[in-house]
Amino acid sequence: MDRVATGVEGFDALVEGGLPMGSNILITGAPGTGKSIFALEYAYQGALKGENSLYISVDSSLPMLRQQAKTFGWDLESLEKQGKLFLLQVPLNQMKFDLFAMIEKVKKEINAKRIVFDSLATFSINLDLFTIPLGYAGSIASSVSVNGSGEDSTVKDRGDKIFYTGNSAERMIFLILAELRNLGTTNIVITYGDLSGQKLTVDGVSEFECDGIIHMHNELIGAKHVRTMSVLKMRDTNHSPYVHNIEIKNGIVVRPAEEL
Ligand SMILES: Nc1ncnc2c1ncn2[C@@H]1O[C@H](COP(=O)(O)OP(=O)(O)OP(=O)(O)O)[C@@H](O)[C@H]1O
Ligand SMILES: [Mg+2]
Repeated sequence: MDRVATGVEGFDALVEGGLPMGSNILITGAPGTGKSIFALEYAYQGALKGENSLYISVDSSLPMLRQQAKTFGWDLESLEKQGKLFLLQVPLNQMKFDLFAMIEKVKKEINAKRIVFDSLATFSINLDLFTIPLGYAGSIASSVSVNGSGEDSTVKDRGDKIFYTGNSAERMIFLILAELRNLGTTNIVITYGDLSGQKLTVDGVSEFECDGIIHMHNELIGAKHVRTMSVLKMRDTNHSPYVHNIEIKNGIVVRPAEEL
């Protein structure tokens, strides 16, 4: 089994050295638990060692991402200039933006080995901006594009493909994961659950569709909020069954578990 070491301090030891190559790994958890920082570090560490990375962001602007990285001493701009890292913000104000075509183009241009999608949940909030063709299975590529028409109809014929505009979040998430898998890259996909902690993800499907789940928590212990993480599943991997403390200190640091 080929593995992709994330480079996140203390994490790779929990998953036999790294993420299974070619897999889709979900990071889920409450707000501010370090999901985006973990994924940004994965992209950054990859780019540093020649496993070029594409970071797709729906919610954070690119200056925000670069600024966040700077607080840890990571110079994203120089990696971007060298063509090792590409930060892509999904435009929500652009007509007919073809997300999958863009992802494929950048993947090819920088020969990306790692892709991050941040996040499925914020993408789903903006779902009504997008259309997907009914016959996506034959050509997943270029199947998601911004509709922007504001029309409410269910089926539209636009020449070569029949589009369905009554999108469901579940179907869109399925399509995004299928697209990422087809690219052959090793991917981290972010989403979140509900604040009560009852639901692992808001969509209820990505946890089943992905090959692995990293769950980030924020626990109140005494008067202190303590960050923890656990690996809930990881295909082909004898992963840690423990809850691990983490710290955000020049990136993410995962502590070894105290055995129960
Ligand atoms: N330079 C830093 N040093 C220490 N902690 C930091 C630093 N920068 C950010 N943090 C911590 O990381 C948190 C943000 O982490 P991150 O953006 O990864 O969260 P997230 O899980 O993606 O949240 P959301 O669901 O809201 O997107 C901040 O709220 C802060 O607590
Ligand atoms: Mg985030």
